[in-house]
Amino acid sequence: MPLVTRVTDLIGRTPLFELAATSTGTRLLLKLEQFNPTGAAKIRMAREMVLDAERRGLLASGGHIIESTSGNTGLGLAVVAAERGYRFTAVVDHHACKDKLRAMRAMGAELVYVADDGDDNLATSAREDLAEAMAAERPDAYFTEQHNNDANAVGYYAVAEELLEDVERVDILLSSVGTGGSLFGTATRLRQLGRPAHVIGVEPVGSIAFGGEGGPYWQSGTGTPPGATIGTAVDYSQLDEGVKVTDVAAFATARAVAAELGLMIGGSAGGSVHAALTRLEEFPAGSTVVTIVCDGGEKYLDTVFDDAWMAERDLLDPAAETEVRQLLHRYTPASRRTELVEAR
Ligand SMILES: Cc1ncc(COP(=O)(O)O)c(C=O)c1O
Repeated sequence: MPLVTRVTDLIGRTPLFELAATSTGTRLLLKLEQFNPTGAAKIRMAREMVLDAERRGLLASGGHIIESTSGNTGLGLAVVAAERGYRFTAVVDHHACKDKLRAMRAMGAELVYVADDGDDNLATSAREDLAEAMAAERPDAYFTEQHNNDANAVGYYAVAEELLEDVERVDILLSSVGTGGSLFGTATRLRQLGRPAHVIGVEPVGSIAFGGEGGPYWQSGTGTPPGATIGTAVDYSQLDEGVKVTDVAAFATARAVAAELGLMIGGSAGGSVHAALTRLEEFPAGSTVVTIVCDGGEKYLDTVFDDAWMAERDLLDPAAETEVRQLLHRYTPASRRTELVEAR
């Protein structure tokens, strides 16, 4: 790697990890986006939204970026704002992971909470309304509006390009849908490059993007809570299937992957990995299945990886973890199996 001078030069070229393989040659590969600065995929689109606003004359030098965020978008924007000399205000709620908020502040972001009472409900629509109102009042401000910003998906085009450098083709792209940017941006670029994938979106049970009843959920950074508007970045024209995963299954998977392999993935990635692992044998033999791991598990040490936090919310399910561990054993890729035997 050449010498770099900006943190954003470190974005991308994230590793691809073979998590599982069936006897029929179907493989589950994880695009480990936690290897980006900020430990998340979102910095890709944060940079793209700012560059796009600059190109379109919507952000003047020294201007003010405002965004509603559950954490990772805000972290990405904080880096880009620091580098490019913008003021950045993140509109947040108490549902967000505390460490993400602390890190944003460390990088110079101002935090505005939608509710001061410590209510830890997900407040996506209230956050967005406040961000929009704040931007409307300030002539130098630009609301990046990730849910309805075309640059969000464009920010992930490089994910598709990197995947095709590492593997010949992606047959199935299966990943979580929050704004939709990461899944549909990657899918768009695969299609543009003449290598379209079958696209499966994953959202928490309780999220409303794929229909069904809305309700609360704990998977962070993903899904559309009841009452929130589904933005244009959710590109239904590219969605072949939408599936739902419970918090229990998602978190059991993140915990089992950590315990089995020493790989820390976040709760939303746990949901996607669960959906992929439980269906792996249904996919055509020899399929290459890719899941984008939007962030790492280290951000969830106080939640998903904390037994007391999990138990208080009725999310702890050792039997579900055991089931995932059994799937991981059953689908251990041959190369890893051999290395393990040799090591012993
Ligand atoms: C933790 C987490 N989960 C899921 C997602 C998927 O979100 P989106 O659909 O907005 O790309 C992201 C974004 O990268 C994320 O940070």
